[in-house]
Amino acid sequence: MDIKKLHLVYFSPTGTTQSILRLAARSFSTEVVEHNLTDYAARKVQLEFGKDDFVLFGFPVYGGRVPETFRERMKDIKGRCTPAALIATYGNREYEDALLEMKNISEGNGFLPIGAAAIVTEHSVIRSIAAGRPDAKDRVFIEGFYSELKKKILAISSENFIAKLTVPGKKPYRRYMKLPMTPVATASCTACKLCVKRCPVGAIDAHNPRKTDRDKCIGCMRCVRICPKKARHLPKLKMAVGKFYLSSAERIRKEPEMYI
Ligand SMILES: Cc1cc2nc3c(=O)[nH]c(=O)nc-3n(C[C@H](O)[C@H](O)[C@H](O)COP(=O)(O)O)c2cc1C
Ligand code: SF4
Ligand code: SF4
Repeated sequence: MDIKKLHLVYFSPTGTTQSILRLAARSFSTEVVEHNLTDYAARKVQLEFGKDDFVLFGFPVYGGRVPETFRERMKDIKGRCTPAALIATYGNREYEDALLEMKNISEGNGFLPIGAAAIVTEHSVIRSIAAGRPDAKDRVFIEGFYSELKKKILAISSENFIAKLTVPGKKPYRRYMKLPMTPVATASCTACKLCVKRCPVGAIDAHNPRKTDRDKCIGCMRCVRICPKKARHLPKLKMAVGKFYLSSAERIRKEPEMYI
């Protein structure tokens, strides 16, 4: 089959997933449209795709699952027998049920997933884990995944195509756990409000950006990454606990995986 447009639909608080999806633009010689569902404003985005579109979904793994925020935003993203592929990025610990969950969400919304990949990245909370990944070897893998997808798209006859993708994961999924990882702001904060604007869940107080709603915060680390004054960080004790909990992920190099 011929695809008219490649759509990148993603949630990417610290930008790694976004950069991996953007590599697809180089592999597919078709028009590429980006739908970034990360900002708070994206909670109102509604999209519908047709049979001539190809949708590449990307998201970071949170606690072995699809982030709750992305799951919510997926409710208004619909396909009509639209072929799709799924990319889960994860910080070298595990991705557990995340790909299976995303496969089920996308199928439930009218997509036909034809391929999936789990890509190892630098851990967005403890950045010493898998630091610098995806590296050159990972990028070769990612490009290989995109060329496998292209071959599969060409082989599809849209009349009788049945998705037969199998990915790892178990149902019922692991319990979704929101980590108590809310960054704090220091006196260097100049109240520029960039973090207020870019927080995916609207957790930072617009009148006083040093105040964060812990119940809303999903610990995504976006505010820490984007603050021009480096005024936001996780408390030292939380970082130390996180590092301890993830110590095995720091020692062993995992490799990316694809399912076609
Ligand atoms: C709240 C939270 C939970 C995470 N849970 C996992 C996990 O279960 N397994 C893992 O290997 N990495 C985990 N990570 C790391 C991210 O999945 C990884 O860094 C991802 O590539 C970040 O994507 P982004 O740059 O697009 O935001 C977690 C990160 C955050 C912020
Ligand atoms: S981005 Fe940094 S300096 Fe700007 S309001 Fe947020 S914490 Fe303060
Ligand atoms: S306040 Fe929490 S949810 Fe908002 S950007 Fe910072 S870490 Fe992410």
